Amino acid sequence: MAYEVPKLTDLSAAALEKAAQELLSALEAEAAAVGNENDWKNFRDRWMARKNGILTQVNDRWLKAAPKESKSAAGQKVNWLKKHVEGIVENVTRKKLLFKDLPSFEIGAGVEVSEAIVDLYEQDFRRLVVKSERVDVTLPGIRRPLGAEHPVIKTLNEIVAVFRNLGYSVEEGPVIETDYYNFEALNFPPNHPARDMQDTLFIAKQGAKPLKDRLLLRTHTSPVQIRTMEKMKPPLRIVIPGKVHRNDPPDASHSPMFHQVEGLAVDTNITFGDLKGTLDHAMKALFGSSVKTHFRPSFFPFTEPSAEMMVSCFICGGKGKRGSEPCRPCKTTGWIEILGCGMVDPNVFEFVKDNGYDPKKVSGFAFGMGADRIAILKYGVDDIQLFFNGDVRFLEQWR
Ligand code: PHE
Repeated sequence: MAYEVPKLTDLSAAALEKAAQELLSALEAEAAAVGNENDWKNFRDRWMARKNGILTQVNDRWLKAAPKESKSAAGQKVNWLKKHVEGIVENVTRKKLLFKDLPSFEIGAGVEVSEAIVDLYEQDFRRLVVKSERVDVTLPGIRRPLGAEHPVIKTLNEIVAVFRNLGYSVEEGPVIETDYYNFEALNFPPNHPARDMQDTLFIAKQGAKPLKDRLLLRTHTSPVQIRTMEKMKPPLRIVIPGKVHRNDPPDASHSPMFHQVEGLAVDTNITFGDLKGTLDHAMKALFGSSVKTHFRPSFFPFTEPSAEMMVSCFICGGKGKRGSEPCRPCKTTGWIEILGCGMVDPNVFEFVKDNGYDPKKVSGFAFGMGADRIAILKYGVDDIQLFFNGDVRFLEQWR
């Protein structure tokens, strides 16, 4: 027999509660029997129709009929019932129906689908479920523009790949660094003029901390040399790709943010010959087997001796001229400066001595190169800013 809203003679809280329970079990049974769109419409009208729906009857028979003293308690109960019935009719039963034909969804049978997601996708699912609105899968799709690897990232990956093939592993470190890792442990003493070689961007309000804990944007990837030696014992062969910052005003060849690839090899008996052989091989792998390398003395606080490495200009083949025109990339010298390098200074090892880096027992070489600069040379780009101002017409060329 179909459920009917009883007229209550007793409107005490207990009696109302009992009546509410009966109503809810009727609701549940009827909801379970809803099998299609039509059933659901009848179900909805039976419970929610303004004119003589079950909720309206509840209102008339249980609330309006209640005596003054129990009005407020009955009001609360009836309001709660209304909300609950609406929820079951509009949300739960409706959704069960929408998903009924999608075999991979088992709503209410252990699989929980968030209400929010259901609401969001209801329209789309409806289109799939309701026959008359089926998607025509033979229509052409929406063309989405293809992305491409950024030329600087591509170059970073190419450089890293060359060293991976030599057995180097990849390490990374934080872009926001402490004074200790960026300078002190790399043998830049406090107030040493060598700190001015790299125009540092400092993080504000660090003055209260001891100097070594003050934060800055790393000016090179060299701090990761120290970080890695703190956590890994020798022998070591690593490459470190990453972002660095310097307080340089932007122009065609400078950007306050750029990228470096650092390298570090530590073992017993590593020599300057190993450094030269490794870098010469790497340059041939990157720029072609005919390039030559050339080293000239330089200075870095964390390497001794230090050098700058040049490669023969792969644009003009080292001639300094292209036909009768002067070669711009090498400024007519036939050589392009490409990286800084050197033998790890024993003072650097002193900072990580306790992890097996006794400068009397181990030696090593390190190098660091600017990936953006290499990308500029490789791809013949004439302005570093083009890499970073996000013009798709420029970036699309690497698709
Ligand atoms: N860190 C140096 C720079 O940014 C480059 C470098 C790395 C030099 C390793 C020597 C050894 O200029």
